[in-house]
Amino acid sequence: DMDRFIDALMKKMTVEEKIGQLNLPVSGEIVTGQAQNSDVAKKIEQGLVGGLLNLKGVEKIRDVQKLAIEKSRLGIPLIFGMDVVHGYETIFPIPLGLSCSWDMEAIRKSARVAAIEASADGISWTFSPMVDISRDPRWGRVSEGNGEDPFLGGAIAKAMVSGYQGIDLNNQLKRNDEIMACVKHFALYGAGEAGRDYNTVDMSRNRMFNEYMYPYQAAVDAGVGSVMASFNEIDGIPATANKWLMTDVLRKQWGFDGFVVTDFTGISEMIAHGIGDLQTVSARALNAGVDMDMVSEGFTGTIKKSIDEGKISMETLDKACRRILEAKYKLGLFDNPYKYCDLKRPKRDIFTKEHRDAARKIAGESFVLLKNDKSGSSANPTLPLKKEGTVAVIGPLANTRSNMPGTWSVAARLNDYPSVYEGLKEMMKGKVNITYAKGSNLISDAAYEERATMFGRSLNRDNRTDKEMLDEALKVAANADVIIAALGESSEMSGESSSRTNLALPDVQRTLLEALLKTGKPVVLTLFTGRPLTLTWEQEHVPAILNVWFGGSEAAYAIGDVLFGDVNPSGKLTMTFPKNVGQIPLFYNHKNTGRPLLEGKWFEKFRSNYLDVDNDPLYPFGYGLSYTNFQYSDITLSAPTMGQDGSVTAMVTVTNTGKYDGAEVVQLYIRDLVGSITRPVKELKGFDKIFLKAGESKTVSFKITPELLRFYDYELNYVAEPGDFDIMIGGNSQSVKTTHLSLK
Ligand code: IFM
Repeated sequence: DMDRFIDALMKKMTVEEKIGQLNLPVSGEIVTGQAQNSDVAKKIEQGLVGGLLNLKGVEKIRDVQKLAIEKSRLGIPLIFGMDVVHGYETIFPIPLGLSCSWDMEAIRKSARVAAIEASADGISWTFSPMVDISRDPRWGRVSEGNGEDPFLGGAIAKAMVSGYQGIDLNNQLKRNDEIMACVKHFALYGAGEAGRDYNTVDMSRNRMFNEYMYPYQAAVDAGVGSVMASFNEIDGIPATANKWLMTDVLRKQWGFDGFVVTDFTGISEMIAHGIGDLQTVSARALNAGVDMDMVSEGFTGTIKKSIDEGKISMETLDKACRRILEAKYKLGLFDNPYKYCDLKRPKRDIFTKEHRDAARKIAGESFVLLKNDKSGSSANPTLPLKKEGTVAVIGPLANTRSNMPGTWSVAARLNDYPSVYEGLKEMMKGKVNITYAKGSNLISDAAYEERATMFGRSLNRDNRTDKEMLDEALKVAANADVIIAALGESSEMSGESSSRTNLALPDVQRTLLEALLKTGKPVVLTLFTGRPLTLTWEQEHVPAILNVWFGGSEAAYAIGDVLFGDVNPSGKLTMTFPKNVGQIPLFYNHKNTGRPLLEGKWFEKFRSNYLDVDNDPLYPFGYGLSYTNFQYSDITLSAPTMGQDGSVTAMVTVTNTGKYDGAEVVQLYIRDLVGSITRPVKELKGFDKIFLKAGESKTVSFKITPELLRFYDYELNYVAEPGDFDIMIGGNSQSVKTTHLSLK
């Protein structure tokens, strides 16, 4: 049906109209890059536009769709894309935070809620999920990804695509509250040199396939409708013009049958990459297998000429045009171009109580308790706090509404979400006296703050002197029983184009923290951040540290839930926290080398290590504390050996030995001890999030099959090689129980 319909339509289309389908200009309302397209309405009427980027509002979208349907010659509907990355108006935690929940159903639900809200407002296509693996916290966009692990990243990619498009692969996008996903940024965007955004990537094929590609492929397997090309180069050719990547790998090897869109001005930027003028780079992109041009207007400007000159075949143009039309067909837009334009829906479906409750719940699950010691002479750990007395919320991030949602929250209602101070006050009314002082500016350097501004949301500087602000904070602290220090990054300090080389708490904030600690009162560092920071000093001096990332619209309530013990924290890090920036890249699934440092050692001459810091992270991958304790039994394996067609079960009993009910993420790691190529010291191969009442035990089992042991060998064959394996299970990547398995 679809093929016949599109055949008939394409027969009627002129070359210009076919090229028009490949054109994705920006609406002009929201600018995320360097360029803005002009005369968009006129071009729509001429049939020279395939879709629009970042137009918000169901009525506006309906009116623009009307232009395409009623004024253009063939009345082909437009698709409307937007960066609905971690929620729409109901905002969920930043993706890095979401990943720390290890809760695939909750993550799927977050995408489902985002799809319901965005589709109610006219959007049919989201530029999400972002699944770029990264091992470099200097890169600001680690906040938008799922951390450093490909296995977990693949599971999240699948959950997100199912959330946006629907779970049933054969039935996706049928409903008017499901939208098309776009997995990005294909490929390897997270591996830019030195963590600098948009920087060069250079990587062996072996590392690509074993460590970076899996999450993109998982999204393709989950039926993702579109793929976004990354800005970086791969093997010396920008991804946007890389035929090996876009055709050989994506389509031929993985069987992707949707369309590829560039990133914002990805085509024209190839002029600066140095591979040709606009006509050349546009032709290279189309010939490589890229279908849609986001904002560059390189396709509309040059493809006709390239066809006339024989540089692009009609067949290539037809293929790209067909893929865009197929996507619109699958979305149901030919049946009903106004499928996403029901004016009754926004009020009914956006920012509802149910959606906000879901966001609050997963926000609590995303927080990671990094430290929780006793403070002063108290017999108990600092957290959870008692619901009594006076609690002072102090810091530049304590009372900032607009900072709560975090990066890429394009549809956020920035003034409608409570700050930490406001949220706690509302929740604790009549129980706890909540007080506030700002204490310091975000950073000392005003110019830096200016540079970090992306959407003009940066925090206002205070005109008072540092001393005046500190004095006020100390006065407020003096009257409090407990101090919550709300410190860290503003949301503009991570995200796109926000790479940093110094990952310590800004010096004015450190000074404030030191002064608060000197009061001798219990201090809880409530840390806002979009990336791993270097917290060596804080780990040594602050009794309790709760990492809350950017928790979204309901973050303040979720922070209250966890600080006051209504929710027991269960988040586990998905990215290693280094001790200092010099250790970067530091990740758990590294290779052993020929001269590994022996366990427990800091330094040994002629070993792979540093003179001035050990090789260990501050907090390892998979780490996160709870208000309770979990004890692991030894591992039982159903058999010590496994055949190539067989399977074994690894079992462990986990007991909640503490006083609180709580959830634990049980993690399975495997090490391939001998391979035809070198293999990592461990790799995540399974996880299970379980809930245990105080005193309760549960047995968790993982089915291990040869599939889990497969990797790409030197010739890039995907194989499970016979030999010995370490099977490890534990509550983080460092503290594990170990047993052995051999594959025949
Ligand atoms: O989707 C984004 C991408 O992640 C970065 N550049 C702009 C795109 C569209 O806004």
